[in-house]
Amino acid sequence: MTRLAVLFVALAGCAAAHDVITTKITFSKEIVRLVNKRCVTCHHDGGAAFSLATYDVARPWAKAIKEEVDARRMPPWEAVKGFAEFKDDRGLTQEEIELIDDWVEGGAPEGNPKFVPASPKLADWKDPDAPKDSAEVVAGNATKLDLSAHVLAVRPKNLKKGESVQIIAARPDGTIEPLLWIYNYNPDFARTYYYVRPLSLPAGTEIEMSPADAGTVALFATVPKVSAHSRVGAR
Ligand code: HEC
Repeated sequence: MTRLAVLFVALAGCAAAHDVITTKITFSKEIVRLVNKRCVTCHHDGGAAFSLATYDVARPWAKAIKEEVDARRMPPWEAVKGFAEFKDDRGLTQEEIELIDDWVEGGAPEGNPKFVPASPKLADWKDPDAPKDSAEVVAGNATKLDLSAHVLAVRPKNLKKGESVQIIAARPDGTIEPLLWIYNYNPDFARTYYYVRPLSLPAGTEIEMSPADAGTVALFATVPKVSAHSRVGAR
């Protein structure tokens, strides 16, 4: 962001300091806890981005915070909630977004600083490694799986910056499995998403992307073990 924009945000913050407070939501009670949980990993002194750790430094950013969370640009989780279920989902819930909206629209009050928790535990935001012992299947639109696979995780491979793309798997029996919906792709925040439960995709499953020319993703998959029953039968 440009210096001018920073200055503008800061000035907007000062002007808003005289806003009438119309909300019971305060920084010291609700917002600091949400920020600690979802933002300070990156937004602290010496972190990847400017600090939002205290009221004094966060207050001038109030309007920008609302804009960023409403547009789901921050936190930069990028995977749309509810379209496939991922472990350690770092996206804000609808309730958390509404809490921030209420706080900002209500004048972004500080509240009583005695409610601020002592020292925030920084949530881990590292991009996890690919699953061990998995094969990487690069999939684009209309990729067909020749083997059945248990898909453990997915990662944007070669998507266009700024693109929003929905990826599904269409099984031969006609059932559909949502794989990933990336919103406003920013390669700086690319990561590997682990499914809560591995997805079982039989041979012949076709990957469909919308838009079709969005690029490719990597699926990390294991081939299912031969069951004890069929091993016995094979002897
Ligand atoms: C994974 C790290 C990370 C997390 C987590 C994160 N941010 Fe950010 N945020 C960044 C980075 C990096 C930038 C700077 C982007 C840039 O330079 O344009 C940024 C920029 C911003 C901006 C300024 C946007 C602008 O240019 O006007 C706001 C506001 C913001 N973040 C709010 C939040 C809030 C609120 C949360 C938590 C709900 C959050 N961020 C979580 C990394 C993060």
